[in-house]
Amino acid sequence: MADLRNNFVGIKSPNPFWLASAPPTDKAYNVERAFKAGWGGVVWKTLGEEGPPVVNVNGPRYGAIWGADRRLLGLNNIELITDRDLYTNLREMKQVKMNWPDRALIASIMVPCEENAWKSILPLVEETGADGIELNFGCPHGMSERGMGAAVGQVPEYIEMVVRWCKQYTRMPVITKLTPNIADIRKPARAAKSGGTDAVSLINTINSITSVNLDTFSPEPSINGKGSHGGYCGPAVKPIALNMVAEIARDPETHGLPISGIGGITTWRDAAEFLVLGAGNVQVCTAAMTYGFKIVQEMISGLSDWMDAKGHRDLDDICGRAVPNVSDWQYLNLNYIAKAKIDQDSCIKCGRCHIACEDTSHQAITQFVDGVRRFEVMEDECVGCNLCVNVCPVQDCITMVGLEPGMLDERTGKTVDPNYANWTTHPNNPMARQAAE
Ligand SMILES: Cc1cc2nc3c(=O)[nH]c(=O)nc-3n(C[C@H](O)[C@H](O)[C@H](O)COP(=O)(O)O)c2cc1C
Repeated sequence: MADLRNNFVGIKSPNPFWLASAPPTDKAYNVERAFKAGWGGVVWKTLGEEGPPVVNVNGPRYGAIWGADRRLLGLNNIELITDRDLYTNLREMKQVKMNWPDRALIASIMVPCEENAWKSILPLVEETGADGIELNFGCPHGMSERGMGAAVGQVPEYIEMVVRWCKQYTRMPVITKLTPNIADIRKPARAAKSGGTDAVSLINTINSITSVNLDTFSPEPSINGKGSHGGYCGPAVKPIALNMVAEIARDPETHGLPISGIGGITTWRDAAEFLVLGAGNVQVCTAAMTYGFKIVQEMISGLSDWMDAKGHRDLDDICGRAVPNVSDWQYLNLNYIAKAKIDQDSCIKCGRCHIACEDTSHQAITQFVDGVRRFEVMEDECVGCNLCVNVCPVQDCITMVGLEPGMLDERTGKTVDPNYANWTTHPNNPMARQAAE
């Protein structure tokens, strides 16, 4: 059996699945149930400074995007940090940590960007026995207008400064949670590293308006006729999050910096993708809010079965394995040629591949052959773009098949370079040429 035990910056948990800071982690009742269901750790809903707690809207706080089957694809929220009293949260955290010593309990914190604010909250958190802290530099709404959350995460100098304070005033490991609402994610990650962070976590939510009511002209969720941008998360954001994780994992300046991967993780497969792209563990929010805490059981068994089937013994065997294969465009092998192939037995003759190719791509798929409705790829026109595969409603009906070295590419009339596999040293590769000069 694969060993799923996780050691993330010295914080141990029985598996790499943590609940991200959000409503599922905002009180002992939820967190206890989550631990019973099998979650390896939680990042408690973000704590604010001492004093009257923030006040949330009392109307709808979520908007959503659904697929055709009404499956939730993207979730938008305008919720703030915890609206419960700081000391109530701290008391419950301490009790939960005592009850569940083998699980990771991380305190997410957001206080004003002032040294004293951080200096005073850290000992209170430390006293709970929490395993670490996560600095919430990510929330894009409500708190950012007050100079916190994404307002800090968008200024690398502030990130570095606050991380430094935290490293100075606590012995707990510091995880810096980054906002994706920034042009180049490497810059805040580098700043966090310069400040001495133990790890980064990402992504927090993305600025978004999910819909507008066309009767009232109010963005949704609508609070008495007005809406505000919210933070977007769920399956729709996974590709953005994966890319940002990979960017940090392969940046020479942050190489080796532990990453907690977050964003749209719904299945074990999503989680595995984050791990192989450089995350040391993962955090989940929307999937738990959509399907409940027990979803972790499918994640644990799926990841474990896949690792067993592939002979991966533990998480170290898979973490970062895909990072060397993330390349800049200029390094891609331009001698590699693939063509689409349609399996006639599974084709339902809907014609979507034909119309997509005909109207918007390379006119490489027939509609009729000898007067009979039949969709076939014309290899002399196919550039291997893959659009037909993506629009086909039947899984695996259309596949991409790579031409073998020496085979004729009917489109160009040239044979496939017998040497194409040696692309790193191939004379057609501009980077190889540059290196040779
Ligand atoms: C309703 C809601 C509230 C959230 N509150 C917080 C928060 O207090 N602190 C925080 O760091 N992130 C917060 N998040 C962001 C999540 O922790 C997570 O980064 C984001 O949802 C992406 O993960 P997901 O796609 O699995 O949901 C919240 C997300 C949602 C949906």
